[in-house]
Amino acid sequence: MSGGFPERVRLVEVGPRDGLQNEAQIVPTPVKLELIERLSEAGLTTIEVTSFVSPRWIPQMADQKTLLEALLASPRRRAGVSYPVLTPNLKGFDAALAAGAQAVAVFAAASEAFSQKNINCSIGESLKRFASVIDAASALDIPVRGYVSCVVACPYEGPIDAQQVATVARALYDMGCSEVSLGDTIGAGTPASVQRMIEACAKVVPLEQLAGHYHDTYGMAVANVYASLELGMRIFDASVGGLGGCPYAPGASGNVASEDVVFLLHGLGIETGIDLDKLVLTAEYIAQQLGRQPGSRVARAVLARRRAASTD
Ligand code: HMG
Ligand code: MG
Repeated sequence: MSGGFPERVRLVEVGPRDGLQNEAQIVPTPVKLELIERLSEAGLTTIEVTSFVSPRWIPQMADQKTLLEALLASPRRRAGVSYPVLTPNLKGFDAALAAGAQAVAVFAAASEAFSQKNINCSIGESLKRFASVIDAASALDIPVRGYVSCVVACPYEGPIDAQQVATVARALYDMGCSEVSLGDTIGAGTPASVQRMIEACAKVVPLEQLAGHYHDTYGMAVANVYASLELGMRIFDASVGGLGGCPYAPGASGNVASEDVVFLLHGLGIETGIDLDKLVLTAEYIAQQLGRQPGSRVARAVLARRRAASTD
């Protein structure tokens, strides 16, 4: 374990996918497009934009092809920005490839019950499916990120052993995933349980290739990012405005808000390349589209400060 904070952290913005997949209303494609363009203009360089999953399972992502094609053709597209998409199987991978995807992600779980509910198969079967996706992607030099869900607890099975998380993380890494994201799907983790889980995973996957993906159900997500930074973790998933959840994890709330993480990191002197004001205005944009206030405290505080300054 390296100890000490990293100089720079990379944020993986998952709001357009993890956030919008859990909204009751289907967000129109032009709104998603505008959201993603604004995120890249705020300095996010990895933006997970959609999932090539069954529209019967996740109708919110049914516009995946139109959305990805429009993004890749957009005149506003910025150099160096990557738009990964989720692909649960070869059917999803082939569709993603046909739409122009240049980075994909597969998603496993550390809990058997969650794996069944989320992707309708056991952990072992899912790993076999992912092996075919990873082989097909590797042949084309397409990087594959691997997710492990329920890294602290499962909504159906309760607490999950850190060793079980490490076993699945290792399987994904050994199969060729370039990065493994550790998902506290129901936000039950605390700094102590998250650090124990990372320590177990970092014994089998290099820490530089592990990412923290924390949901904020119990208000612990920023604390868990801090606890992960203490161990030297350098990649975090976050969602603008704290959008999100998981349709197959009852009670799971949104991801940690991107602007909360950026505020924390900049306060620690850690570089992100992200413009906090632009990010907060993006949180305001999507919140307005959804008919509510931005979910994060940092967004609300920055917006209140801007309003006060404009009336001075
Ligand atoms: P299944 O029903 O077992 O699939 O679903 P199947 O192979 O038996 O096929 C059934 C039908 O689905 C067939 O169509 C297939 O063609 C079609 P039919 O012949 O009946 O007309 N199908 C597909 N259609 C579109 N795209 C595909 C695809 N594959 C099969 N890729 C499947 C299995 C995996 C497809 C389904 O369970 C599914 O789509 N699950 C997605 C669940 C999901 O997206 N969950 C949220 C993302 S995970 C998450 O949020 C956690 C994370 O954020 C980390 C964390 O927080 O922990 C990543
Ligand atoms: Mg998630």
